[in-house]
Formats: sequence, structure tokens, C-alpha cells
Amino acid sequence: MKVYLNYINGRWTRSNSKKTFTNIDPATEKPLGKFQASNKHDVEHAVKAAEKSLPIWKETPAPERAEYLFKITRILKRHKERLARIETKEMGKVLKETKGDVQEAIDIFEFMAGEGRRLYGITTPSELKNKFNATVRIPLGIVGLITPWNFPMAIPSWKLAPALICGNTIIFKPSSDTPQSAYELIKIIEKAKVPKGIVNMITGSGREVGAPIIKHPKVNAISFTGSRDTGKFITRNAGLKKVGLELGGKNPTIIMDDADLKLALNGVIWGAFGTTGQRCTATSRVIIHKKVRKKFESLLIKETRKLKLGSGLKRKTDVGPLINFGALEKVSKYVNLGEKEGGKVLCGAKEASKRGFFYEPTIFTKVKPHMTIAQEEIFGPVLAIIEAKDLREAIKIANQVDYGLSSSIYTNNVSNALKAIEKLETGIVYVNSPTIGAEVHLPFGGTKDTGNGTREGGTIEEFSEIKTIYVDYSGSLQKAQGIE
Ligand code: UN1
Repeated sequence: MKVYLNYINGRWTRSNSKKTFTNIDPATEKPLGKFQASNKHDVEHAVKAAEKSLPIWKETPAPERAEYLFKITRILKRHKERLARIETKEMGKVLKETKGDVQEAIDIFEFMAGEGRRLYGITTPSELKNKFNATVRIPLGIVGLITPWNFPMAIPSWKLAPALICGNTIIFKPSSDTPQSAYELIKIIEKAKVPKGIVNMITGSGREVGAPIIKHPKVNAISFTGSRDTGKFITRNAGLKKVGLELGGKNPTIIMDDADLKLALNGVIWGAFGTTGQRCTATSRVIIHKKVRKKFESLLIKETRKLKLGSGLKRKTDVGPLINFGALEKVSKYVNLGEKEGGKVLCGAKEASKRGFFYEPTIFTKVKPHMTIAQEEIFGPVLAIIEAKDLREAIKIANQVDYGLSSSIYTNNVSNALKAIEKLETGIVYVNSPTIGAEVHLPFGGTKDTGNGTREGGTIEEFSEIKTIYVDYSGSLQKAQGIE
């Protein structure tokens, strides 16, 4: 079996631990390769490389840094099909979705390459004569990127591309469920001839690799996408580092009695069961006007039963496996709890195959807002339907959760749509489309427990800071605030 290595200081390197872990195909449970089970010594080695290359990269003009990003974009485009197949094999989601995942990586590298000729600061008048005021953007230094498995190319790219264009050097730890996608991405960065030491990748566990990155005094910032618990661990352990967090979601779709039900139906199926429900943005609650609930449910059951489970590599498959055995157990646990707490199963609620981590798309109705399946993030193909008597109640229920990533409303009434836009407490609001499908050049992120107020995607805020500049050309001592 192929053994994959870490990438440190421009070299493919074995871990100091001499240990590896096995990457598994979630559709077949077959092994795909061995990866380095790294430790804190590898982190140390990578930090040294990142530290050494920082002054060179920082001083490279941003439009020149952008050239590397354009090159990465071009190579990614050429390899889109191949990369998508690799992703599907190790992560499970269907090919058309992994192609979308690679496309998101392409889009963000291209967008951030353009940023190389902007990285705007401001100029603004001074209170005083003969004085010039401005701001410029500066890199943070060494940044630690810790990424999940559900978008194994897109999410690392959302972080790598802006971190690079802003002039930072990088320690990247991908999820242990999708290390090969990370390896392929780094291979492309290597092929684009990004100078050594600027991007370093270390595979391994959160405990052995993630924690030492988070705690390292020379790492200046952490950007993390993943669970709320890990997010909390990071805020407790990162000291004064700048921290960007993208945590969970419990995303609602509101369907009003004036909605186009066919449109809502397609949106809910895609939002809830696309990526087997394993998106932070997945639709996990439908909050529906009581007048249309029954009708919508019967349409929804019929369409959901048509979804074909199977290997993501097969053209006819709609829904792939869950990521691993633990995910399968977690989904079963929540479904059992849903039944115990009084939810009524409309379809699904069982494992779907002896081999691979398949679980049937599952719909619960008669769900009450306080029930566990209406509150906690399940990260699987489980949808809870909750009835509401009007828009006010629907919005109240939508907001009654700890998370605040994405939400959507289906309505043909302009005032309903605008009221929802105003009142829904999420970082992203969709009208007449599902809760998933964010585009890379717009800010992505959420309120409340979804994060700590940062946004990523179409923004460089997370990976740069501002230097404020005052130039006094009066030739005499001028004092601000009118001091004589
Ligand atoms: C995630 O699930 O963490 O908006 C990211 C979407 C995708 C990104 C999801 N473009 O659904």
C-alpha cells in the first residue's frame, strides 16, 4: 500500500513518530493508503521552515504572489476530473459534488489571485495640515490551518488561498479522514513552484498535531473549520492568536403557505440529503406553515424514496455513504432519540448496507422545537419537520437554536421574504433556494455558536491585519486633538 508523506520545507518527509494511519474508502471500507501519524516534533520542524521563509514571502510583492495562485488555478482546472475521483473515493460524496468541491477550490484561488492587485487599505484626511494618513494590510505571520473532511479541497483552499495572497506562511493539518485530497492539493502547490517552507502540510491526529499547532508560541493565527467542541478547545488554548472558527449549523428552511411547493421540494431534498447531509450548511429542519404541511410531506416522502444510495463513483447514485463508522453510530443514536422523544418517522431510519457506512435518508415529522433532533447538529441525512402557524412563529422557531450559520425561506410574498431576511439570526440567508450552495467570493460564516464572528471565503480579513500610517510633512511638531 502506498505510504504518503508530510510536506515540510519543500520536502516530502516521514514523521518523527515512524507511525502511520490508514485511510479508508467509506463506500467499501477498503484501505486506500497509509499516512504519517505525525507528532509535535514534526510541527516544530514545520514551524522552523515557516519562520525561515516568512520574510521572503512577506516581501514578495502581492501581484507576484498572485502569479503562483493563478498557476495553481490553472493546474487545478486541468486535474479537476482526476481530483474529483480521488475525493469521492476517500470521502464518499457523489462525483458531481466532488467536481463542485474542486471547482470551489479553483474559484477561490482565482478570486484570491485577483486580490493580489487589491489588498486595499484606506486613505483618509488628517485633522492637521500637511499630514497624510493611510492604512496598509500586513500578513499575520505563521498561520495554522486545520480543516475538515466534508469539503476536502474546497475548505483547505478557502484558507490557503487568502493566507498565501496576504503573505503568510502556513502549517496545514488536514482531517485524517481525507488526507489524500490534501496531499493532491499540496502536490499542485508544489507543481506551481511555490517556494519551499511557505506551505507545510502535516497529517495526523488532533491531539498529536492539531493541539501543538494551536498552542505553538510562534504560530500567530489559527483558522479552523469543524466541531463546536474543538472550536472551544482552540479558544481555550490559542492564547492571543487571531482565531477564525467555522463551527456547526442547525439550518432551517421555512416554507410558507404561499410558496412554490415544487421549488421548495427540490431545495429541501438537495439541502438535506446532498453530501449525505454532511455539510455545515445542510438543511436539518423544515419549518412549515400548517396549511401546507401534509401536502408537502407526501411530496417529500415520494421524492426521498426515489433517492439512490451507493458508491459516489456510480453515475446513478444520488446519496453516498457517511464518512466513517463513528458517523453511522452517531446518526443511529440521534434517530433513536428522535423516536424516543416523540418524533414520527416518515421514511428511512435505518442503515442501508452491510458494507460501507450507508444510512437511508430519514425524515421525522411531529417534531417539537425543543427536541434533541431539532437542536443538535447531526451531520447526516436526517431532516426534522416542525409545523408553525404563521411566519412569526416560524422565525421564532428558526432562531431557537444555539447555531447560526445558514437559513432559507420559500415564499412568493415580498414582505415575508424581507421580514425573514431581517429577523433570521444566521450569517447567511437564502430566499427561494436551499440552505447550501454558498459562492466563494461572498463572506461565509455564522452567528452565535457557529463561530467567533469571523467570515471566510471572499474576504482577506481573517489572514491579514492593518498597519496605520501617519506621515507628517509640515516640518514642525504638530499635535493631534488640538493640543497647543
Ligand atoms: C461546509 O459545509 O462546511 O454552501 C461548507 C455550501 C458549500 C460550502 C459548505 N459551498 O454548502
